[in-house]
Amino acid sequence: MKVKVNIYKGTPDSKGKYVTYNMDVPPTDMVLDILEKIYHEYDPSLSYRYACGIARCGECAMLINDVPCLACERQIEPEMTIRPLDLPLIKDTVINRRQVFDHIKEILPEPGDIDDIYDSFEEMDEDTSHRKIENSIRLTTCFECMICQSMCPRYRSDDQGFPGPLGLLFLTQMNENPAQRPLSEKDLDMLAASCVGCGKCARFCPAEKKPLHLALELLKHHPAKAVTAHMVDGKTTVQEVDESV
Ligand code: SF4
Ligand code: SF4
Ligand code: FES
Repeated sequence: MKVKVNIYKGTPDSKGKYVTYNMDVPPTDMVLDILEKIYHEYDPSLSYRYACGIARCGECAMLINDVPCLACERQIEPEMTIRPLDLPLIKDTVINRRQVFDHIKEILPEPGDIDDIYDSFEEMDEDTSHRKIENSIRLTTCFECMICQSMCPRYRSDDQGFPGPLGLLFLTQMNENPAQRPLSEKDLDMLAASCVGCGKCARFCPAEKKPLHLALELLKHHPAKAVTAHMVDGKTTVQEVDESV
């Protein structure tokens, strides 16, 4: 199969440009296979990141024809434009994950003391403790690809006090962890307040169990914010709202 691939190449300090490669490849190839072929056969200066190759590590997330996805599970098309997620850049398709994690860490409160596990369980009825455990397992299925963070209009608006959807997910992970004392309502409300519930972050989450949908659903119960995720027939959905909100 003949493919034409336009890939962004550049660093924060250089003027980026798109470089085009035309090649013949098996039709069963994934986008990651194409990146490998370009690196090994055409251009060893191309930078891209991956670790698992099986949609588990989240490292290969990028924009392919303007759709955020994992390069290792995205099938090839005859013509593709590939660029990094809209987050701080290191080089070519590689984003600065450390910078995003550091920013989130600066904003989030410290997790509760792990020794509180027995007290916390004693304070809960059986239903609550089961729900917490189930939520906690689902929330930890996020593999930190950062697609949600790159899609959030509030995060990209440079609101330095807002941790973005990935930060909100980490927040709910802490709050639902039955081994830790829940966070204060004040912390939750303050950190979630900038979220407008547009649902853009959750739309492209590649994690099978949709942890971000659950995080938004849990946070909507905090009155200082307006997330509109809701349960329908046992499934969590996130209602789209006007993006100009
Ligand atoms: S919640 Fe989904 S989109 Fe966001 S980082 Fe985790 S896996 Fe990626
Ligand atoms: S619902 Fe919208 S504003 Fe809230 S975290 Fe997701 S993308 Fe950002
Ligand atoms: S290489 Fe691990 S998710 Fe794609």
